[in-house]
Amino acid sequence: SLQKTFVMIKPDGVKRKLVGEIIGRIERKGLDIIAMKLVKMSKEAAEKLYEEHKGKSFYQDLVSYITSGPVLCMVVAGDEAVAVMRKMIGATDPKEASPGTIRGDLALSKGENVIHASDSEEKAKKEMSIFFSDSEIIAG
Ligand code: CMP
Repeated sequence: SLQKTFVMIKPDGVKRKLVGEIIGRIERKGLDIIAMKLVKMSKEAAEKLYEEHKGKSFYQDLVSYITSGPVLCMVVAGDEAVAVMRKMIGATDPKEASPGTIRGDLALSKGENVIHASDSEEKAKKEMSIFFSDSEIIAG
Protein backbone atom coordinates (compact mmCIF):
# COMPACT_ATOMS: atom_id res chain seq x y z
CA SER A 1 0.00 0.00 0.00
CA LEU A 2 1.02 3.63 -0.51
CA GLN A 3 3.22 4.90 2.31
CA LYS A 4 5.30 7.95 3.18
CA THR A 5 8.67 7.69 4.91
CA PHE A 6 11.23 10.14 6.26
CA VAL A 7 14.71 9.93 4.70
CA MET A 8 17.72 12.01 5.71
CA ILE A 9 21.19 12.20 4.16
CA LYS A 10 23.47 12.67 7.19
CA PRO A 11 26.30 15.25 7.49
CA ASP A 12 28.95 12.83 6.20
CA GLY A 13 26.85 12.10 3.09
CA VAL A 14 26.39 15.81 2.34
CA LYS A 15 30.06 16.57 3.03
CA ARG A 16 31.16 13.71 0.77
CA LYS A 17 28.88 15.04 -2.01
CA LEU A 18 26.81 11.86 -2.18
CA VAL A 19 23.48 13.74 -2.43
CA GLY A 20 23.16 13.30 -6.21
CA GLU A 21 24.13 9.62 -6.04
CA ILE A 22 21.57 8.90 -3.31
CA ILE A 23 18.71 10.93 -4.82
CA GLY A 24 19.45 9.18 -8.14
CA ARG A 25 18.98 5.78 -6.51
CA ILE A 26 15.68 6.83 -4.90
CA GLU A 27 14.40 8.20 -8.22
CA ARG A 28 15.56 5.21 -10.26
CA LYS A 29 13.79 2.89 -7.82
CA GLY A 30 10.53 4.60 -8.76
CA LEU A 31 9.83 6.26 -5.42
CA ASP A 32 8.53 9.84 -5.31
CA ILE A 33 10.30 12.63 -3.40
CA ILE A 34 7.39 14.74 -2.14
CA ALA A 35 9.32 17.12 0.18
CA MET A 36 12.97 18.10 0.50
CA LYS A 37 14.95 20.51 2.70
CA LEU A 38 18.63 21.14 3.52
CA VAL A 39 18.94 21.96 7.23
CA LYS A 40 21.56 22.48 9.90
CA MET A 41 19.83 20.58 12.70
CA SER A 42 19.41 22.19 16.13
CA LYS A 43 20.34 20.24 19.27
CA GLU A 44 16.60 20.19 20.13
CA ALA A 45 15.66 18.63 16.77
CA ALA A 46 18.46 16.06 17.14
CA GLU A 47 17.29 15.12 20.63
CA LYS A 48 13.74 14.68 19.37
CA LEU A 49 14.84 12.60 16.36
CA TYR A 50 17.03 10.32 18.49
CA GLU A 51 14.82 10.24 21.64
CA GLU A 52 14.84 6.43 21.71
CA HIS A 53 18.66 6.34 21.92
CA LYS A 54 18.89 8.69 24.95
CA GLY A 55 21.13 7.11 27.60
CA LYS A 56 22.92 4.79 25.16
CA SER A 57 26.73 4.87 25.04
CA PHE A 58 26.81 6.47 21.59
CA TYR A 59 24.05 9.07 22.21
CA GLN A 60 26.25 12.15 22.83
CA ASP A 61 28.46 11.33 19.82
CA LEU A 62 25.32 10.81 17.71
CA VAL A 63 23.82 14.20 18.64
CA SER A 64 27.09 16.08 18.07
CA TYR A 65 27.70 14.31 14.74
CA ILE A 66 24.18 14.89 13.41
CA THR A 67 24.36 18.62 14.29
CA SER A 68 27.91 19.00 12.88
CA GLY A 69 26.83 20.05 9.37
CA PRO A 70 23.84 20.26 7.05
CA VAL A 71 21.59 17.23 6.48
CA LEU A 72 19.22 16.73 3.53
CA CYS A 73 15.72 15.83 4.76
CA MET A 74 13.15 14.26 2.47
CA VAL A 75 9.72 12.72 2.50
CA VAL A 76 9.64 9.76 0.12
CA ALA A 77 6.40 8.16 -1.02
CA GLY A 78 5.54 4.96 -2.84
CA ASP A 79 4.21 1.42 -2.54
CA GLU A 80 5.57 0.01 0.77
CA ALA A 81 7.98 2.99 0.93
CA VAL A 82 9.02 2.35 4.58
CA ALA A 83 10.30 -1.20 4.05
CA VAL A 84 11.60 -0.47 0.54
CA MET A 85 13.75 2.47 1.76
CA ARG A 86 15.06 0.44 4.73
CA LYS A 87 16.06 -2.32 2.34
CA MET A 88 17.73 0.18 0.00
CA ILE A 89 19.80 1.78 2.80
CA GLY A 90 21.03 -1.55 4.22
CA ALA A 91 22.13 -2.57 7.72
CA THR A 92 22.98 0.08 10.36
CA ASP A 93 26.60 -1.09 10.42
CA PRO A 94 27.91 -0.48 6.89
CA LYS A 95 30.40 -3.32 7.37
CA GLU A 96 27.41 -5.69 7.56
CA ALA A 97 25.36 -3.95 4.86
CA SER A 98 24.99 -5.87 1.60
CA PRO A 99 26.69 -4.62 -1.55
CA GLY A 100 24.05 -2.89 -3.65
CA THR A 101 22.64 -1.05 -0.64
CA ILE A 102 23.45 2.62 -0.03
CA ARG A 103 25.45 1.90 3.14
CA GLY A 104 26.93 -1.27 1.65
CA ASP A 105 28.28 0.66 -1.31
CA LEU A 106 29.05 4.09 0.18
CA ALA A 107 29.88 3.83 3.91
CA LEU A 108 32.24 2.05 6.30
CA SER A 109 31.57 3.50 9.77
CA LYS A 110 28.62 2.64 12.03
CA GLY A 111 28.66 6.13 13.53
CA GLU A 112 28.86 7.87 10.15
CA ASN A 113 26.60 5.76 7.99
CA VAL A 114 25.49 8.33 5.37
CA ILE A 115 21.69 8.00 5.56
CA HIS A 116 18.67 7.50 7.81
CA ALA A 117 15.22 6.15 6.95
CA SER A 118 12.28 5.59 9.32
CA ASP A 119 11.78 2.03 10.54
CA SER A 120 7.96 2.17 10.79
CA GLU A 121 5.04 4.27 9.53
CA GLU A 122 4.49 5.57 13.06
CA LYS A 123 8.11 6.76 13.35
CA ALA A 124 7.91 8.19 9.82
CA LYS A 125 5.01 10.43 10.94
CA LYS A 126 6.91 11.60 14.01
CA GLU A 127 10.18 12.22 12.13
CA MET A 128 8.50 14.07 9.21
CA SER A 129 6.76 16.37 11.69
CA ILE A 130 10.13 17.44 13.19
CA PHE A 131 11.24 18.91 9.85
CA PHE A 132 8.15 19.56 7.71
CA SER A 133 4.80 21.23 8.11
CA ASP A 134 1.86 19.57 6.29
CA SER A 135 1.87 22.35 3.68
CA GLU A 136 5.50 21.57 2.73
CA ILE A 137 4.63 18.01 1.73
CA ILE A 138 3.32 17.73 -1.83
CA ALA A 139 -0.06 16.03 -1.84
CA GLY A 140 -0.58 13.09 -4.21
P1 CMP B 1 20.17 5.23 12.43
O1 CMP B 1 19.63 3.85 12.53
O2 CMP B 1 19.85 6.06 11.26
O3 CMP B 1 19.77 6.04 13.76
C1 CMP B 1 20.45 5.77 14.96
C2 CMP B 1 21.90 5.91 14.70
O4 CMP B 1 22.74 5.68 15.80
C3 CMP B 1 22.35 4.85 13.71
O5 CMP B 1 21.78 5.15 12.46
C4 CMP B 1 23.84 4.97 13.81
O6 CMP B 1 24.35 6.02 13.04
C5 CMP B 1 23.98 5.32 15.28
N1 CMP B 1 24.44 4.15 16.00
C6 CMP B 1 23.74 3.06 16.27
N2 CMP B 1 24.48 2.19 16.97
C7 CMP B 1 25.69 2.78 17.12
C8 CMP B 1 26.88 2.40 17.76
N3 CMP B 1 26.98 1.23 18.39
N4 CMP B 1 27.90 3.26 17.72
C9 CMP B 1 27.78 4.44 17.10
N5 CMP B 1 26.66 4.86 16.47
C10 CMP B 1 25.64 4.03 16.50
